[in-house]
Amino acid sequence: MNHLLIGISGGIAAYKVCEVVSSLAKRGIEVRVIMTRSAAEFVTPLTFATLSRQPAYTDSDFWQPSHGRPLHIELAEWADLFLLAPVTANTLAKLAYGMADNLLTNTVLASTCPILFAPAMNTSMWQQPSVQENWHKLLQDNRYSAIAPTDGILACDAVGTGRMAEPEIILEYIESFLLTKGKQDLKGKKVLVNAGGTREFIDPVRFIGNPSTGKQGLAIAKAAIHRGAKVTLITTSPTDLPAGKEQPLLRVARTSAEMHQAMLEEFPFADMAIAAAAVGDVRSKLQSAFKLPKSELPLNLELEYIPDIVADLATRKRPEQILVGFAAQTGSQSEAIAAAQEKLKRKGLNAIAANLVNSDQTGFGTDTNQATFIKANGDTLSTPLCSKLELAHRLFDFLE
Ligand code: C5P
Repeated sequence: MNHLLIGISGGIAAYKVCEVVSSLAKRGIEVRVIMTRSAAEFVTPLTFATLSRQPAYTDSDFWQPSHGRPLHIELAEWADLFLLAPVTANTLAKLAYGMADNLLTNTVLASTCPILFAPAMNTSMWQQPSVQENWHKLLQDNRYSAIAPTDGILACDAVGTGRMAEPEIILEYIESFLLTKGKQDLKGKKVLVNAGGTREFIDPVRFIGNPSTGKQGLAIAKAAIHRGAKVTLITTSPTDLPAGKEQPLLRVARTSAEMHQAMLEEFPFADMAIAAAAVGDVRSKLQSAFKLPKSELPLNLELEYIPDIVADLATRKRPEQILVGFAAQTGSQSEAIAAAQEKLKRKGLNAIAANLVNSDQTGFGTDTNQATFIKANGDTLSTPLCSKLELAHRLFDFLE
């Protein structure tokens, strides 16, 4: 059973944490909440106690013996994960200097589990050199991970960085933490991921495409961020990526030619590249810059093969770089594995994921997936049917 402790300090973003606590409690995850005095000015302890089906602790509970032991020690030992959301400039500063003057900061100091920070504050406050110094100082500790604040309109009407990450993003970090126990094995690594289905245009309004939505590639990018990597995602459709300790780089490439160019530019900087994109195999020789009238559309479209991007990267790969492909297959599991093994050898990859796409629950556009991972040395591992985020973590565990 996983125990999740959530520390709330005084910011308006506290209201968003209600959603986080509610969703976790509905999934049967045991959540306990600690609130600072100012947090309780924004949302009442009763709200969190009701949503979590557990007591919500405040400073008035501090030093009340729980089972005869100090509450901050009990809570610190109980927690498998500690989320601080929202965390204010004041709480960050105290933690950066090891200060403890309330139940929340005492519990942080008494704890040994991984800690996730989701700061929220006004842009000018966030950008103060002293706040940035405290933030970066804290993140040097491997026990601490960041869910960096995002850009947007703040409650003080300012527009800029400082919004707490949305509940959905925080929940994804927690899902990863529950799967990996906060493993930061990709810290310091650069991971390049491509995602989505390419569109091979005949003219600006017509293309040859495929049903890939880019969800698996996005989940791989998120899993890598959650494990501490610096990520570059090249995707066929614009998407939101959560910011990690360092801002991820997002590039959009709609066609295989754009994808190829972007991958060639980014690959030299990557320690690991995961090619989850469904790149087209053929494109029209005719590519008009203007919409063709129906009468001018050729009924026998002349096609040409698209160069294989990962195979090209494999020829440029440095020995220490890891290159992984995804093979979308139909047919039986054993046929999929055999076809993927052949692709792994032919393309010169370090590993490949054989991914069945002919089921309602796996492959294109689904939220769940199942795959068999194969390494060049013959090692294989089949995953159960799981979320795309879990599949991504299982892949990183396999590659480790
Ligand atoms: O399409 P196929 O099953 O051969 O794809 C397997 C792997 O090859 C995937 O990782 C895909 O991204 C990559 N690929 C590519 N360039 C292509 C076709 C596929 O990089 N033109």
